[in-house]
Amino acid sequence: MTDIRVEALEEPIAAKLREECRSDTYPAASVRVFPSGCAHTDCYQKSAERFRDFEIREDDVWVASYPKCGTTWTQEMVWLIANNLDFEKAKAERLTERVPFFDFPAIVSKSIPGIPEDILQFFSEMKTKRIFKTHLTKDLLPLQIWTKKPKVIYVARDPKDVVVSYYHHHRLWNGYTGTFEDFFEGFLADVLVYSPFWDHVLDYWKLRDEPHILFNTYEEMKRDLHGVIRKTADFLGKSLNEEQVNQLAEHLSFRSMKSNPATNLEIFAELERKRHGLPEQPDLKFIRQGECGGWRKEMTQEMADKLDAWTKQRLEGTGYNLSSFNKISDVKGHTVGQVVMDHFQTEASTLPQRI
Ligand code: A3P
Repeated sequence: MTDIRVEALEEPIAAKLREECRSDTYPAASVRVFPSGCAHTDCYQKSAERFRDFEIREDDVWVASYPKCGTTWTQEMVWLIANNLDFEKAKAERLTERVPFFDFPAIVSKSIPGIPEDILQFFSEMKTKRIFKTHLTKDLLPLQIWTKKPKVIYVARDPKDVVVSYYHHHRLWNGYTGTFEDFFEGFLADVLVYSPFWDHVLDYWKLRDEPHILFNTYEEMKRDLHGVIRKTADFLGKSLNEEQVNQLAEHLSFRSMKSNPATNLEIFAELERKRHGLPEQPDLKFIRQGECGGWRKEMTQEMADKLDAWTKQRLEGTGYNLSSFNKISDVKGHTVGQVVMDHFQTEASTLPQRI
């Protein structure tokens, strides 16, 4: 097994964010883990080897992402496709139970009522078909993913929307009391849990042509949910007729998932708001705004320019084109046409846009 090495995260901005995250349950990052150089909380280490050695089943399905990229949305879509559109069960059973969070022990510092103490053992004993959510970087996934090759569906999102969404997430779950500016600096300095963002995305994107990997984006889901449903169903070996695609798209709409207690995590969010003495604001909901370009409401132009320059530098020579988020893709995500905006990035900085 490849050795896992851990270094303390000593950057001053990381220390500042740790101070500003008041939750006694969901801490900020304090270590960097190699391989991958991913930032983690100090809870990661106790499960590191168990994550790597976890027994994979060939028929597992993994939904992978950097946080706030549309994981929950993808989980619900994948679960329903894999379970022949069993809407009744989807509404009766919480998504967190149907598609559990594999690396939850890496982000939580104490046990949570209702969640098995040894959740990895629980996962290994599951009798039903397993669909997992994970935010692990490619290099920290269970090693058998690369030999047993279960299906992996990755979802990426524009980092400007990710950082805003992750900020509000931290306010709610991590009891973050600092400024958006500090949080933003932490994102660019790669010290947030599961950062560096671009390494996370690119490591999976490079595998997009592997038959067991599907690479989707949040923007594509917003623009052409029906197309993404069809592509994902095809990838999972399921066929859906037009009526079923329409039904699923309706179930996955922002409005529907926001009001659905099985997907909106409101029961947990309410606990966290109480714990941190927070009001019931729209931004302090788990399913929050669901927009492309919502970052414009929170980020100054200077910050947006800084993030764009950071993205440009990180993407240099990779071939990854952010504007491809707005293109139609075929079954394996290859671009075959282009709609909406060709120069999304340029226009995005000047136009008020809601997709
Ligand atoms: P915002 O905070 O920008 O609203 P994740 O599941 O990876 O944590 O991602 C959360 C983001 O996905 C949140 O973004 C959330 O509102 C958005 N989201 C969840 N369900 C959605 C849906 N059905 N349609 C659009 N966006 C959705």
